Amino acid sequence: MKKKIRELTGINTTYLGQYKYKDANRVNPKILARILELSKEYPSVKRSNELGWQSKKDFYKEPCVAELGQFVQTCLKRYITKNINTSIIKDWRITDLWANICPKYSYHKRHTHPNSDLSGAYYVSVPKNAPELIFTNPHRYMRPLIIGSADTAISPTDGLLVIFDSGLEHEVNINLSDEPRIGLSFNCQINKI
Ligand SMILES: [Fe+2]
Repeated sequence: MKKKIRELTGINTTYLGQYKYKDANRVNPKILARILELSKEYPSVKRSNELGWQSKKDFYKEPCVAELGQFVQTCLKRYITKNINTSIIKDWRITDLWANICPKYSYHKRHTHPNSDLSGAYYVSVPKNAPELIFTNPHRYMRPLIIGSADTAISPTDGLLVIFDSGLEHEVNINLSDEPRIGLSFNCQINKI
């Protein structure tokens, strides 16, 4: 059978979602206390964090994140509805959620989140002048005069949630503050119909 060739095949544009959690002042201290408690119980899990501490990926089981989880789900729904063809989506679920403590001089080397569709970062406690979350422009070599070649930098603040395509390269420069930057990261898998 002859297969029809499509003239153009789309490659999705990547969007960054930014959402502010209005209950952060009330909820974050409980999350922060649990993260600090766990960091004394076992050594760091090795992911992208250099010189910092990362929890196991099942932090979603912690009761302290139950309320935040509802906000994250609401934001995921908004992101997916706006940016993805929902007619092909059955559902989605958060597969991994882990905590990060980034003390002075720690950093996140450039990385992606393989085997995942969407990922997110939520900021629990951020010092002044904390380094930005930098997303590498995936189009930097493609028509840069039209699209632009600049990377995108997001300044973290307490209660900010960032949702992004898991395949988008990102990094965080060295934290030069005496205070640690503490947050959560997660991966989300989207299931097709
Ligand atoms: Fe990451």
